[in-house]
Amino acid sequence: MFDLPDDEILSLSKEHVFYTWSAQAKVNPIAVKRAKGVHFWDVDDKRYLDFNSMTMCVNIGHGDERVIKAMQEQVAELPYAAPGMTTRVRALASKMVADVTPHQALTRVLFTLGGADANENAIKLARGYTGRHKILTRYRSYHGATAGAMAATGDPRRLAWEPNLMSGVVHFLDPYRYRSTFHRTNPDISEQDFAQDYLNHLEEIIQYEGPQTIAGILIESVTGTNGVIIPPQGYMQGVRALCDKYDIVMIADEVMSGFGRTGKWFAVEHWDVIPDIITMAKGLTSAYAPLGAVAMKPQIAAAFSEHAFESGLTYTSHPVSLAAAVANINVMREDKLVEHAAVMGPVLNRMLTDLGEAHPSVGEVRNIGLFGIVELVKDRKTKEPMAPWNGSSPEMNALKNYCLDNGLYLYTHWHTALIIPPLIITEEQLKEGFAVLDKALEITDKAV
Ligand SMILES: Cc1ncc(COP(=O)(O)O)c(C=O)c1O
Repeated sequence: MFDLPDDEILSLSKEHVFYTWSAQAKVNPIAVKRAKGVHFWDVDDKRYLDFNSMTMCVNIGHGDERVIKAMQEQVAELPYAAPGMTTRVRALASKMVADVTPHQALTRVLFTLGGADANENAIKLARGYTGRHKILTRYRSYHGATAGAMAATGDPRRLAWEPNLMSGVVHFLDPYRYRSTFHRTNPDISEQDFAQDYLNHLEEIIQYEGPQTIAGILIESVTGTNGVIIPPQGYMQGVRALCDKYDIVMIADEVMSGFGRTGKWFAVEHWDVIPDIITMAKGLTSAYAPLGAVAMKPQIAAAFSEHAFESGLTYTSHPVSLAAAVANINVMREDKLVEHAAVMGPVLNRMLTDLGEAHPSVGEVRNIGLFGIVELVKDRKTKEPMAPWNGSSPEMNALKNYCLDNGLYLYTHWHTALIIPPLIITEEQLKEGFAVLDKALEITDKAV
């Protein structure tokens, strides 16, 4: 389509592209040429099995013609309309998103460009609705890289920009059983008591901060890059109850955990919880086009009936992105991908468990649906991580390189390896990836 030889892509990119999250001199990108299903190919025609859905976002898999066609038709019919107008695809997409929210309870939808600005807008809505300022989020969280979303982020990605971020965010601890600060001396505590301890901790913070000052509690329903932390039974219901008790808006960030990833449309459904606001992106279009959304209960929207919501985006409800969302949701329904992810959950769990049994460097494995993680440690007893907090290590780098060399694309973060493949993946394809991982872990085993 464009007149640039394959062998010039990399050199030209190195000269002119400025990369995010990277020291520019150290960037060594894969020059991707095409992608189909669970695979993509680089310009040398090397094939990679995609165990990370690119950026945990290509939920329906690569190159689905139904989505591509819908986008082509939309761009031919109407590529853009102003934010204050409406279009056929805007009407349809907002209805379809509302329909997949838990109990169809979040009936109004504000479209954004991605996950960070979805969270920014959710925070504004919560503040406008309550007239309060503070937002509570967890330490092991990522909510995006714009100033407000970065402030909300609990993990070290926020540190480079402090203190010039949005004010009013208070962080609290995550119910992370494997490394629970509260339970080092009683690791066998029941799930119910464990959840309650973390809810007590949250309520204590609410009290210290003053409930009358807290607009929202923003949490990832299942924590993503900070460790695929699956909330214990009772925890999400408990957060909902605390929000109700203190009139705080409950915001579920389902940017990564939504759209079938966990075997439900949204992860909160596992605990039958209805948040006041859900933010989403990634799987909403399976990344065929950039799009985020904020779905809210009618009472949140009603708070802005008589006065304006003072915010906006030139590209809100971009028709081509919305066409991708509509087609993507249709594909997920037609191909029963949410159901498939639910079925594949135990399959992935078995493979993770086998991996853990075979390799002494595996400290713990976890998954919910097709959202999985391997925690690598130097010592199972002390749980010393294979790379330090917010750092890397030769072993983790070697593991990642081995996988890439052998055609397995997966995301490693600190001492963890994440398994987040497209939802269309089959047992055979999972096995193929695990065979590479199994060999790669011989590297980390040597450090035990
Ligand atoms: C849970 C969560 N929230 C928000 C975001 C930010 O989304 P975006 O990169 O589309 O701004 C991410 C991105 O990885 C995420 O994982």
